[in-house]
Amino acid sequence: MNADDQKKAAAVRALDYVKPGMKLGLGTGSTAEHFVRALGEKVKQGLDVLCVPTSERTGKLAESLGIPLTNLDDTPHLDITVDGADELDRELRLIKGGGGALLREKIVATASERMIVIADASKLVETLGAFPLPVEVIPFGAAATARRIAEVASDFGCTGRMSRRADEYGEPFFTDSENFIYDCAFGTIPDPDGLSAALNRIAGVVDNGLFIGIASLAIVGTATGTDILGSI
Ligand code: A5P
Repeated sequence: MNADDQKKAAAVRALDYVKPGMKLGLGTGSTAEHFVRALGEKVKQGLDVLCVPTSERTGKLAESLGIPLTNLDDTPHLDITVDGADELDRELRLIKGGGGALLREKIVATASERMIVIADASKLVETLGAFPLPVEVIPFGAAATARRIAEVASDFGCTGRMSRRADEYGEPFFTDSENFIYDCAFGTIPDPDGLSAALNRIAGVVDNGLFIGIASLAIVGTATGTDILGSI
């Protein structure tokens, strides 16, 4: 199977964990989109679920498929969030935020009893960090915050180019919460737990794309099927 088939296989397998009456978090990105579409089919066939999307983009897609939606204010506790990842390791630590939705993704995932990650095989790595780590930063004083990020990261053995994300027109990219993202190309992250905690202590950092201790199960598409890591 190619990468997209693997994403789809993982997404479809995640449906096995969805039971009638569940409240679900819906992730963002191409893999999560496969899940939303497959869930939409089940809803058409009568499956009763209530969902919170992690981005405007996912919300629009889910709405167009007739999936009942709510938000965390009305429904602050969810059963399962199903989302993709930019990288995952065998301890189910993740890098997320390639699509810019890391903050809402983390809020929704941590409001959920369980998070299931769905991914193609290329996302599974020995050491996190080849994918540039997204760090969401308040626009006020962003350059000063970026300087602190570089200093703190270097204390954790992480150095490399940091660039403020731009949109397709070269204009600053804004997240759904109107913040900037710095993509930090560290290459490897020797201590993801320590780095994540330290980054989030910097004034001006809203959150970073490391998801530590949040996912309990990963479904990874392979050349021939799907592998399961972890348990639920
Ligand atoms: C969105 O902000 C991200 O966290 C996505 O979940 C991640 O980028 C995976 O995206 P794909 O499924 O498109 O690879």
